[in-house]
Amino acid sequence: MRFPLSFGTILDDGDVVNLNEVHGGKVYQIAKQLGRSVETLIDFSASVNPLGPPASVLNAMHLAVNGCQHYPDPHSEELRAQLAHEHKISVESIVAGNGSAEIIRMLPKALGLCRGLIVGPTFSEFENSLRLVGGQCISVDAVSAQRYAPPLEKLYEVLKEWKLAASKKNHKAVFHTHTVFVCNPNSPTGRRILLRDLRKVVDEVHRVGCWIIVDEAFIDWCPSHSLIKDISIYPRLLILRSFTKFFSIPGIRLGYLVGEPTVVESIRRHLSPWSVNHVAQVAGVEALADVRFRKRSRGFIQQERIRFLSQLRTIPGLRVIPSQANFVMVEVSNHVVAEALVARLQEQGILVRNCQTFSGVTKPALRFAVRLRRENDRLVQALKRFSKISGVQI
Ligand SMILES: Cc1ncc(COP(=O)(O)O)c(C=O)c1O
Repeated sequence: MRFPLSFGTILDDGDVVNLNEVHGGKVYQIAKQLGRSVETLIDFSASVNPLGPPASVLNAMHLAVNGCQHYPDPHSEELRAQLAHEHKISVESIVAGNGSAEIIRMLPKALGLCRGLIVGPTFSEFENSLRLVGGQCISVDAVSAQRYAPPLEKLYEVLKEWKLAASKKNHKAVFHTHTVFVCNPNSPTGRRILLRDLRKVVDEVHRVGCWIIVDEAFIDWCPSHSLIKDISIYPRLLILRSFTKFFSIPGIRLGYLVGEPTVVESIRRHLSPWSVNHVAQVAGVEALADVRFRKRSRGFIQQERIRFLSQLRTIPGLRVIPSQANFVMVEVSNHVVAEALVARLQEQGILVRNCQTFSGVTKPALRFAVRLRRENDRLVQALKRFSKISGVQI
């Protein structure tokens, strides 16, 4: 078990809180640094669908701008109704947010959480959100030697300890302030937990009496593994979803949370009023309706991922971690090579994510989004050129 490291420092009411606020997709900063326009960059660092945004969504957003003289619907009624229909759940079990990241930041305060068990290495915002309320995190990490397979056995061990502690007189209530965070499929590893395994985890968590928050930001790439239908069975299960990745609208900010209606209502009260703007609400409704785009995207990524990964495997020294998402993590020989590669690619307008800032990634690694075929080919060529010119084994 590891107590995660953090990077960066902000001041919070006089207390120093360390946050890891390094994320991919820094196109504006990098374009400025390079003195070129954002449009000339190829961004492999933020894992968004290269086929998007769908034309239907772009058109609807253009029209929706005309509604800017009114406040948006504070409850995103139409969007939530569509989501309820899509997932066959009640409207009351859904709350929309200004990106799922906004909801993640609110959860510890809204639920009174003070301790998190993070299944890592993963998205740093889970840890950040708990640290901001003075909470603590421990993690169970997947390891390189097992190609970052989800660390389920380690997770069960901790849950066993928690269950034992909870069974002691008067101790169950303590665990109401505890949560497990799982991201499925996980970023940056790309590994997925099978639905049946995740259900076993949720059963154990249920016995402990703590919360479990499952981030399904990338589940659209393997939707049959979503736990969303189980929210009616487990009152302490919360699911986070995002429109960002699959519909390629990170700049619009739209995500949602699904859970037991009274819990959802208390979380909603912690979000700022009108947190989801009108254009984002319209984008969400239109995105859900575009069934053809969704089908085409899944088919494309499934095929292109196979091709891209097999190309990457031909590069000597690169160790490709299997992925069930729209990105792939690759290990390289050392940190110097990882940093040199990021810099060299960046000079060519190709942005990739160095995984060094993910707590629990113990071997030097990079994360690449699966992009369009010609873009993926360009990255593969650039990697090969780097290896040839520098004479360094990647
Ligand atoms: C795993 C994971 N969850 C959530 C988010 C946040 O997504 P959103 O754009 O909906 O805030 C990200 C963004 O990178 C992510 O990687």
